[in-house]
Amino acid sequence: MANEIGFTDHERLISPIEHAEDFDSESNLRPQRLCDYIGQEKIKENLSIYLEAAKMRGEALDHLLLYGPPGLGKTTLAGIIANEMGVNIRITSGPAIEKPGDLAALLTNLEEGDVLFIDEIHRLSRQIEEVLYPALEDYALDIIIGKGPSAQSIRINLPKFTLIGATTRAGQLSSPLRDRFGVILKLEMYTHEELSKIITRSADILGIPCEDEGALQLAKCSRGTPRIANRLLKRARDFAQVRGNGVIDEEIAKEALCRMDIDHLGLDSLDRSVLGAIIRMYSGGPVGLETLAAAIGEEAVTLEDVCEPYLMQIGFLSRTPRGRIVTNLAYSHMGMADPAANGQQSFDDL
Ligand code: ADE
Repeated sequence: MANEIGFTDHERLISPIEHAEDFDSESNLRPQRLCDYIGQEKIKENLSIYLEAAKMRGEALDHLLLYGPPGLGKTTLAGIIANEMGVNIRITSGPAIEKPGDLAALLTNLEEGDVLFIDEIHRLSRQIEEVLYPALEDYALDIIIGKGPSAQSIRINLPKFTLIGATTRAGQLSSPLRDRFGVILKLEMYTHEELSKIITRSADILGIPCEDEGALQLAKCSRGTPRIANRLLKRARDFAQVRGNGVIDEEIAKEALCRMDIDHLGLDSLDRSVLGAIIRMYSGGPVGLETLAAAIGEEAVTLEDVCEPYLMQIGFLSRTPRGRIVTNLAYSHMGMADPAANGQQSFDDL
């Protein structure tokens, strides 16, 4: 659905949802080894132990669930895990597995130790989940042949494999499925320093001259998300080539962001229209998600998965049982007085 500024979410420059352009170029920007992966320190530390232990035992890694907002590197981590284990990775997604036969075809083509990566795993149907359970627990596939009283179940043994599930919505996973993952890891948003390092690394790979101050400027507007950071880097390169001397310095980065209508916190017109609608139409909230989405002509899932995680992260928005409310930080960012405010907070800590 197009919003009031005429963009669908997939066209938004600062959407963390993967664009076709990202897919082409992300592959060579993706680190292949855990030591090259920037950020998510706690996850990396634990993961390196699980990997080493599984390798020492000569076993497949336990099934693993990665969750967190889009664009934080779940697919990248899955690729690294397969690479570190020295096995193949098969990549699919929940909505792509429509029939039990689709899953059976994927599973029977795996080799010993391989990784099966299912993105958006919360979107698997219950029928497919039922096929998955014995595969995860017993490395076996139960197939029913025939119908009615003469139907027979036969069991096919599968190679020992690792399922890596990824989801933006861990809460939507059924508990039997969630319980079958031995490791559950939550990816956190990246700091400005981590994003700056990611931008500098990507600039090196792509041969883009980028000064530290330019990288930091882009990092501050990347909403804690590497996918957005890499996208802003490529757009800033265009401005540097056409409007500057080809180098992304602080000034060019600022000009590029300003021309792309991205403010100093990384908010674009959609974020501002969300905040503006809650403030102007609903007196700061609470307002229900569906009502808000209808008011600004956007899909509820886009607001929930794309806008809200960052607005909550920077303390502009809260989800309450009665609906969404904005904070006094959001009022001052929008240049409006919060009727309920009795003190001002500062942005410096954001
Ligand atoms: N590119 C995208 N995400 C990255 C990360 N976490 N570390 C290094 N490069 C990346």
